[in-house]
Amino acid sequence: MNNEWLDTIVVARRDATSRIVVLDLVRPDDGELPEFAAGAHVDVLVDGAAGLVRQYSLCGPPQDRTRYRLAVLAEAASRGGSLGMHRLREGDRLRISRPRNRFGVSDEARRHLLVAGGIGVTPLLAMAHALEARGAEYELHYCARSRADSAFVEELENNPRVRLHFDDGPDDQRFSVAADIGPPDPEAAVYVCGPGGFMDFVISSARGAGWPAEAIHKERFAPVEDTAAHTAGGTFTVRLAKSGNAYEIKDGESVLDVLLAAGVDAPYSCQQGICGECIVRVLAGEPDHRDDILTDRERADGMFTTCSSRAHSPILELDL
Ligand code: FES
Repeated sequence: MNNEWLDTIVVARRDATSRIVVLDLVRPDDGELPEFAAGAHVDVLVDGAAGLVRQYSLCGPPQDRTRYRLAVLAEAASRGGSLGMHRLREGDRLRISRPRNRFGVSDEARRHLLVAGGIGVTPLLAMAHALEARGAEYELHYCARSRADSAFVEELENNPRVRLHFDDGPDDQRFSVAADIGPPDPEAAVYVCGPGGFMDFVISSARGAGWPAEAIHKERFAPVEDTAAHTAGGTFTVRLAKSGNAYEIKDGESVLDVLLAAGVDAPYSCQQGICGECIVRVLAGEPDHRDDILTDRERADGMFTTCSSRAHSPILELDL
């Protein structure tokens, strides 16, 4: 992992719900933090001793360089990441990466339709702050199980651009693509973030309503549960253009795992198909794309995720 860690201090901590903690981080010297664009996330070194790294979106206003805000849901099946974050107290130190972003606000769209499911509201909150600051036209649809399960409701409910949709609320406030997003608009972009099932529902409904794939921007914050979806398949060879070295990738292995085990300095972060940090260019061969990150245009341009994609051809040459 090629991270340059930044030291921060937890300057504020509050329980937004029984399962969501909101943390504000500042630099130890109170200086400015690196600039970030709405939609960005940071890697967080949750447990330095165990090398446990997790990705969390920055949900505060991007124009505020004095602090970063994270909101973390305590996952029922936490392997230490979210629970470690919940254990943090004011004054604790936390190492984070510089912000990264594959989920930015479209420069081309005039209208921005943000659709959040649960804790997926975090990157969209930063987008709402940024769009508000620039006077852009946007709507934020925040879908959650219930008011009690939702962070940030107090700050959002009086914003006329925000609509709250609770599963346990009356039928007429439930989210639907037909009623809340409407028909395709060539001047609009749709942004979706939330649990996998929620995202699949929103994206397939929007596509069914005629929205083109390139108008729908998405960010998954949870890896696919079935890692075999990324690593199962026949053996193929990866050749690295710079060294000329070749590596065999067998069924059950990822390209990234094999390269790292061989000591190759390949870029990566999450290793779970959600951050996009491992993207490299394919120079020859036919990729078998299994990620949910790259757009059709990026795939056509030869981009490839080493942690989650494979090859249809016997040899894949990478620009590494
Ligand atoms: S390392 Fe994060 S998507 Fe591959």
